[in-house]
Amino acid sequence: MYLGIDGEIALVVGASEGIGYESAKALLEEGADVLICSRNADNLKRAAASLKQATGRDARWFAADVTRAEDVQKLRAWVERETAHLDILVSAVGGSHRALFEALDDAAWLANYEFNVLGTVRVIRELLAALRRAPAARIVILGAAGARMPYPNQVVSNVHKAGLIALVKTLGAEFHKYNIRVNSVSPGRTMTGFWTKRIAGMSSAQGVPPEKIIEEFSHEIPMERFGKPEEIAPMVVFLASHKSSYMTCQSILVDGGISRGLI
Ligand SMILES: NC(=O)c1ccc[n+]([C@@H]2O[C@H](COP(=O)([O-])OP(=O)(O)OC[C@H]3O[C@@H](n4cnc5c(N)ncnc54)[C@H](OP(=O)(O)O)[C@@H]3O)[C@@H](O)[C@H]2O)c1
Repeated sequence: MYLGIDGEIALVVGASEGIGYESAKALLEEGADVLICSRNADNLKRAAASLKQATGRDARWFAADVTRAEDVQKLRAWVERETAHLDILVSAVGGSHRALFEALDDAAWLANYEFNVLGTVRVIRELLAALRRAPAARIVILGAAGARMPYPNQVVSNVHKAGLIALVKTLGAEFHKYNIRVNSVSPGRTMTGFWTKRIAGMSSAQGVPPEKIIEEFSHEIPMERFGKPEEIAPMVVFLASHKSSYMTCQSILVDGGISRGLI
């Protein structure tokens, strides 16, 4: 299937590893010119080298922490030096926070809000002018299956990821006047560094082998396994492409069947 994005300019935020990295790689493979961003310059250098090795193509990078407003302003200034417009913006920053309601104070709620919602809001706000300069830009936000089927013990990220779905639906309608489409991909449990670190922590805290923890988390998933980041990236690229031209305001689950609500 020809996606029609060769030669287009994409920015992937949260691209040094995991789903963002795989999305950047898939966009490069489809011929897009890809800019990548995350907090850590060393991680970005490693990611750019790995992308070059995998695709033969260069990804220019910029280090910025989306939880810091001034960093996102610097990201905008860098993007504007690098390109006249942006065709594609992917925001892949976020994550679930395992904690019971009673363990969360205001500071924990606000920090998670900044990580899961406000960071993406800032990125879109700062890059909107560059997206508007493209003829028909697309924004793809990484949500989470937990927003559609809230898991116990992670109330704060369930609430904030649900907010992202509302953001996508609102911006998709508001930005139509700029010919910008806005969609999101909601992954289920996907084996990225996020989970390998979490599983290692749980394994040492509980004295249980990591395989046992993976088995327990996999048990609730109809496909009985975690996803791989390269199984999420194709949906990101599809929504970022011209083949999804009649789609906006949508949140698409790629979750091995874990969320099975009828609406
Ligand atoms: N993995 C899953 O099971 C799963 C499930 C549901 C939803 N999701 C969603 O999918 C997205 C990607 O998840 P992932 O598992 O691929 O994450 P990950 O493996 O933890 O990677 C996160 C990426 O974001 C960067 N990053 C983290 N904090 C940042 C910040 N404040 N500012 C800028 N960059 C930042 C990291 O690089 P640096 O360390 O260099 O900053 C890294 O490149 C997230 O929105 C997540 O909520 C994932």
